Amino acid sequence: MKIQIFQTHDELSDFVAGEILDTVRQKPEAMLTLATGDTPLLTYKKLSQLSINGDADWSRVKFAALDEWVGVPPENPGSCKSFLNENIFNRIPLQQQNIHLFDVRSADLEKECAKMDHFIRNHGPVDLMLVGIGVSGHIGFNEPGVSADLYSHVIDLESTTKSVGQKYFPSDIVLSQGITLGLKHILQAKKVIVIANGHHKAGIIKASLKGEITNNVPATLLRRHPGALFALDSEAATLLDS
Ligand code: PGA
Repeated sequence: MKIQIFQTHDELSDFVAGEILDTVRQKPEAMLTLATGDTPLLTYKKLSQLSINGDADWSRVKFAALDEWVGVPPENPGSCKSFLNENIFNRIPLQQQNIHLFDVRSADLEKECAKMDHFIRNHGPVDLMLVGIGVSGHIGFNEPGVSADLYSHVIDLESTTKSVGQKYFPSDIVLSQGITLGLKHILQAKKVIVIANGHHKAGIIKASLKGEITNNVPATLLRRHPGALFALDSEAATLLDS
């Protein structure tokens, strides 16, 4: 596991966008998992600007979604699907047949999990996984206490995830469960970048990098991953020396 600290969110986002583009340049059939959330928004803006220059071939890149809110219609602007459409798929020339998302309209979510696991087994492992980190230490919807032995699964959301998650939605919404890639997928990805910016993430970044390695803070498990990188801005890194 490595740590890289950037002065600003802008510099951090330039770096992460460059890492995604390099992965595709080096391996045009790469599999990517790119998180939703506020943190990587600027990265995706920069990635779309870089991809306009056209020196990467996206036509064979595979995309496996990280997670989705269960019970939220995909057309809701706060769904992960809406986020991915707006910030990635509408801007970067991925092929529809190479994209695999969790379909939460399915009556059988266990089957949705099996379909995602099959997609990753067939085309993976994931070459580059970009994930955010919640203030609880969750990665995707791998909530505190989750087993590290799980692949895709449905999980009850922790109260912080339910309350913080309201920020993505136009009006108050009941959030109770999520469907997510498991820690097993995350730990099997070749490279995992955990991106964090802002003072509000400083406490959980310190706990993730300096605290006990435990599934009660799922992000701590990434310290055992040789291909993990915590990419931080200086605000998120403030408490690392204290
Ligand atoms: P954020 O979400 O990027 O909106 O802070 C991170 C997360 O909860 O995984």
